Amino acid sequence: MNEEQRKQQAQINQEANFDRIKNTSSDDMISKYFQTNYEPQSPDIKKARKRRKEDVQFHYDFSIPEDVATVGKGKKFLIRTYGCQMNEHDTEVMAGILTEMGYESTSNTEDADIILLNTCAIRENAENKVFGEIGHLKPLKLEKPDLIIGVCGCMSQEESVVDRILKKHQHIDLIFGTHNIHRLPQLIKEALFGKEMIVEVWSKEGDVIENLPKVRKGKIKAWVNIMYGCDKFCTYCIVPMTRGKERSRRPEDIIQEVRHLVAQGYQEVTLLGQNVNAYGKDFEDIQYGLGDLMNDIHKIDIPRVRFTTSHPRDFDDRLIEVLAQGGNLLDHIHLPVQSGSTEILKKMNRKYSREDYLELVRKIRKAIPNATLTTDIIVGFPNETEEQFEETMTLMEEVGFEAAYTYIYSPREGTPAARKTDDVPEDVKKQRLYRLNELVNKQSAESMKKYDGQTVKVLVEGESKKDPDVLAGYTEKNKLVNFKGPKSSIGNIVEVEITEAKTWSLNGIMVENTVEVN
Ligand code: 5AD
Ligand code: SF4
Repeated sequence: MNEEQRKQQAQINQEANFDRIKNTSSDDMISKYFQTNYEPQSPDIKKARKRRKEDVQFHYDFSIPEDVATVGKGKKFLIRTYGCQMNEHDTEVMAGILTEMGYESTSNTEDADIILLNTCAIRENAENKVFGEIGHLKPLKLEKPDLIIGVCGCMSQEESVVDRILKKHQHIDLIFGTHNIHRLPQLIKEALFGKEMIVEVWSKEGDVIENLPKVRKGKIKAWVNIMYGCDKFCTYCIVPMTRGKERSRRPEDIIQEVRHLVAQGYQEVTLLGQNVNAYGKDFEDIQYGLGDLMNDIHKIDIPRVRFTTSHPRDFDDRLIEVLAQGGNLLDHIHLPVQSGSTEILKKMNRKYSREDYLELVRKIRKAIPNATLTTDIIVGFPNETEEQFEETMTLMEEVGFEAAYTYIYSPREGTPAARKTDDVPEDVKKQRLYRLNELVNKQSAESMKKYDGQTVKVLVEGESKKDPDVLAGYTEKNKLVNFKGPKSSIGNIVEVEITEAKTWSLNGIMVENTVEVN
């Protein structure tokens, strides 16, 4: 196609798209949308809150339907991932499915034939970013009408988000939720051959689908889902609605996946779940919790095992006893506390007090004296007083957290806390976050200083982002280390002598002949 023809084609495409995207009133769009054979399924937050007794079914027979098995041949996909590790891992699954359909991955937006936005709903600013990106993609869609743009992940589980996309962003072709990722092949088919926006979001959580293909992001560290969903219903949190009820994977499936990763040469696994400490509580036929699972994985020949994220309420003695064995079970524990005030914790429905939390920390430290603790904290929960905030500051010091992810409370529609009036001005919340972050930085810097002159074990991940002549990796306690060493050490665990401690990272030099080859 010469330049003139290309321009003409672009003009035709643009007109066709304008028909659908620009010149249709939102009422028209919605009625057109219901006229298709396709059965749309929009989210319903009330249904998503319900917890039902029915058993979760396990499916082991995933396959790509024959009629779409090659639709991706010669085409490219791009997935933008927002939010937590769960989303990152879901992206690996979607990449696996698309690859099996013949698509190839690209990082260039203009080259993509399918773009998926795997979204996060945890705070408002996460959602704003996604809406910004949805807006940016519109000109590309007008130019390339065959491009499929999909929105998935936690935001698509929200009614208000789906309504907004239906009304204002008709250039989106496909919306699907967190429970029906395995339906991606069929949904792409609908989007390719239908003219309307495809919406398939299940508000009732799905079953557990095993054997989904995955294209993992790296070859050194891997995520392994151990459970899905959350039943904790912290009053500020949207996750129990976007991810559904707690469903644990069967231990044998998890263990098989870890063994498979070992065979592929992976050095580290992180067991994933929204509240991993509730693992196994939904099993009716066996008594088997996270402690038991960690004990079984402890016996597998993989150098490093982590888990995230924990809820203090379900962190039991069995798990502490198992973790105390050490070995491949690393002694870095991420234990979100959210607030240091018992009153705020109560309002958050966290179901533990400041004292309960401190008692748990004492127990962990007694069994695992070198344990490193990190946490998540929310400041500015509705009506948080200065004294209550101060209690968070003193808890931060008392526990001696070495790092913390800190957030200003963000009201989420459909959660109980969002219905509360709030007398804390925004600038006070920002001030509190600033004060807390100063303390977090101070404690992190102090924890780093301990390593100056010490030798630490580092799993080498690759070249540092800032300097290709420097290698980067993480210690057992998850501290980032930048160091000089041979490229051949990438993918291995090496010893590094620390020469400089910074606030959030360490610099060092590799000790020669320390490569632990597995
Ligand atoms: N506002 C601010 N932070 C939140 N988190 C969860 N929900 C909200 C919210 N509505 C934080 C919690 C959680 C982390 C993943 O995100 O600290 O542990
Ligand atoms: Fe949200 Fe609380 Fe569940 Fe964590 S435990 S995902 S904060 S509801």
